[in-house]
Amino acid sequence: MTLLVMAGTGEARVLADRLAVRGIAAVASLAGATRDPRPLALPTRVGGFGSAWAQAEWMRQAGVARVVIATHPFAARIAARTVAVCEDLGLPCLLLRRPGWTAGAGDRWTWLDREEDAAGVIPAGATVFLATGRQTLEGFAGLVGRRLICRQIDPPAEAFPFPGGEFLVGRPPFSVADEAALFRRLGVDWLVVKDAGGAASRPKLDAARLLGLPVAVIRRPPPPVVETVASVDEALAWLAA
Ligand SMILES: NC(=O)c1ccc[n+]([C@@H]2O[C@H](COP(=O)([O-])OP(=O)(O)OC[C@H]3O[C@@H](n4cnc5c(N)ncnc54)[C@H](OP(=O)(O)O)[C@@H]3O)[C@@H](O)[C@H]2O)c1
Repeated sequence: MTLLVMAGTGEARVLADRLAVRGIAAVASLAGATRDPRPLALPTRVGGFGSAWAQAEWMRQAGVARVVIATHPFAARIAARTVAVCEDLGLPCLLLRRPGWTAGAGDRWTWLDREEDAAGVIPAGATVFLATGRQTLEGFAGLVGRRLICRQIDPPAEAFPFPGGEFLVGRPPFSVADEAALFRRLGVDWLVVKDAGGAASRPKLDAARLLGLPVAVIRRPPPPVVETVASVDEALAWLAA
């Protein structure tokens, strides 16, 4: 009854810890997007499978009997594909997805459907902090005439892909005080985030509120249609049922 945890989030990490403590037979899968990820508490395979077929084959050979998808809300392809593979193999599958963020008093948020829409709301001359990661950076190429600072976990492997931008290396967690001090030091005028949700990534939003900074929030892609829970406790209850 091996459980496969499709990992890549803090929730996947906590779920792995709790499965290991309970002695539940499980393996984890990471994309390998971060060069030096902190190890999970479960046996972990790292790297893409190559295709849906290869993923199904790997799952068959590993004796996977059920799956919890705990990948990032913006990793749309792997979640949808894993649901499809589970349907093909007739395996129970659960999506563990933390709720998105909601604005509170003092927040100055503008919701965007896609990265490309940022150019329509962020004025020329602004210093923009992109907390959206390297992968979707090309979507901000239209922000001509703004200073762009893109934070990423690993040191950049190549130069910034278009003029006016720079990388900043930073490995979470970050506190609200750290984030506020960083935004002040860099002279940030606008923050751009993905609606990742969760407490771990929230400090940058709290720092923006503290400083009165406007924030562009990119909406999540639609989730796959499958049974879904919002917390590790609920995922453990599903596994126990
Ligand atoms: N997108 C984000 O903003 C974001 C933020 C933080 C963390 N992450 C994590 O980083 C990983 C990659 O994100 P993405 O946006 O590139 O995902 P994606 O677009 O949904 O998937 C791209 C490819 O990465 C591989 N992959 C993704 N997650 C995997 C996993 N858990 N195990 C094995 N292979 C996996 C698959 O490769 P093959 O087709 O070769 O099998 C997949 O086709 C995800 O696990 C996600 O949870 C993403």
